[in-house]
Amino acid sequence: MGQAARSHANDFVIEELNRVLNLDYDAIKAYEAAIERLHDPSYQSRLESFKQDHVRHTQNLAAIVSEYGGEPASHADVKSVLTQGKVVIGNIVGDLGVLKAMNSNERVTNGVYEQALSKLASKPDIVRVLKENLTDERRHKDWIEQALKAS
Ligand SMILES: [Fe+2]
Ligand SMILES: [Fe+2]
Repeated sequence: MGQAARSHANDFVIEELNRVLNLDYDAIKAYEAAIERLHDPSYQSRLESFKQDHVRHTQNLAAIVSEYGGEPASHADVKSVLTQGKVVIGNIVGDLGVLKAMNSNERVTNGVYEQALSKLASKPDIVRVLKENLTDERRHKDWIEQALKAS
């Protein structure tokens, strides 16, 4: 992207991706709280790997925002998008309660990624990255749902 990078179309991309970035930062905080709260070490290590996926998402999304001439969001939104955020999770007692809260968070992240994909469908470079990230989000949600069923 050269000099003329700043345009109305770019502003739309930047705004949309920064919304998703805020959410991924939000999810990282929620995962940190969940990992701290959980007792089962196998749940903890699995959630740690999911948290790392979200960290990677913040990096690949920030790269696109910069490419489009924007300032990438660098933290969660003040108004948390996730209903089961850090504070709520910090007060939950029991591994199942924590997993249920994370399941509801992953429903939100999956939904936000799907929305972003449909809004940015005309940009193949962005669609590729959003699809990669959404594949992770689906895997997170599926694993948590299975863990809840198995318990
Ligand atoms: Fe993510
Ligand atoms: Fe996720």
